[in-house]
Amino acid sequence: MERSKHLLRLRDWDSERIIDIIRIAIRLKKEVKEGKYSNDFAGKTIGIFFEKPSLRTITSFQVGMHQLGGMPITLEPKNIGMNKRESIMDVARCLSRWVNGLVVRCFEQSLVEQLAEYGTIPVINALSDDYHPCQALAFGQTMFELFGENLRGKTVVFVGDGNNVANSIMELCAKLGMNFTLACPAGYEQKANEIELASSEFKENGCIYKSLNNPKEAVVNADVLYSDVWVSMGQEQQRDSKLKHFAPFQINSELLKHAPSHCKVTHCLPANRGEEITDEIMENTQLNFCYEEAENRLHAQKAVLWQLLH
Ligand code: CP
Ligand code: NVA
Repeated sequence: MERSKHLLRLRDWDSERIIDIIRIAIRLKKEVKEGKYSNDFAGKTIGIFFEKPSLRTITSFQVGMHQLGGMPITLEPKNIGMNKRESIMDVARCLSRWVNGLVVRCFEQSLVEQLAEYGTIPVINALSDDYHPCQALAFGQTMFELFGENLRGKTVVFVGDGNNVANSIMELCAKLGMNFTLACPAGYEQKANEIELASSEFKENGCIYKSLNNPKEAVVNADVLYSDVWVSMGQEQQRDSKLKHFAPFQINSELLKHAPSHCKVTHCLPANRGEEITDEIMENTQLNFCYEEAENRLHAQKAVLWQLLH
């Protein structure tokens, strides 16, 4: 199957498709609010295979599949024994004969890539060490709802580590014509190949990529500050050094003094309140739209399922 039949990373989809997905998500959200549920996925199943913990992603995929009239099946990593009990190739081939799609949260991006390569069903990346495309689509939906469809020229400043969520938010910005700035301590920037691959799209869509090590300077033109935990799942042994390096990068009222007064804040969640973001900012729901974004995980993922499995 060609890459665009999966959601492995946002870069594989063109801007039009991303905009379409967001529009579908907004329609599906309206329908749910009106109490309308579809039965179009009757008889369809998705396999959900998560190597890392989750609240939002797993729940919203399960609820979303149910709301579409289909059924999610949880595949326990300890039962499957991926690449241990049997090869990734054989797991992918067998699952392809039973379920209609696979939703996978993993460490190595190569796992979703291989499942997509060897299987014959759509594979959705529900977070890997490198990307979190479902989060970025929910962010895109929330941005459409807050600011309208024309996001060109908006500036998103990601204050945090240059890994999975940052990479996918950067890709979304490049696709939708938004400027993206990463504000992080030296040594925590995105990998050069990630920036390089996105840079032609930033150029094509008339927007700018920046990476800065001074948080106060980074937020000066921000329309939105994006936050994520400093210690990602699987990095627990780096906790002490990360807390030390990231301390000046906390989103708090002092940092916000350096941002424009209209600047909003969001977070992919889970949040470690008191580390990357203060309680005060989390509780300021005029400023912080992370719960709207969390709600939209459901609708954006339903739109992805709709697009790939319908
Ligand atoms: N934002 C996010 O993916 O949350 P979970 O880890 O709880 O799924
Ligand atoms: N960067 C975080 C995102 C959690 C949704 C992690 O990988 O743990």
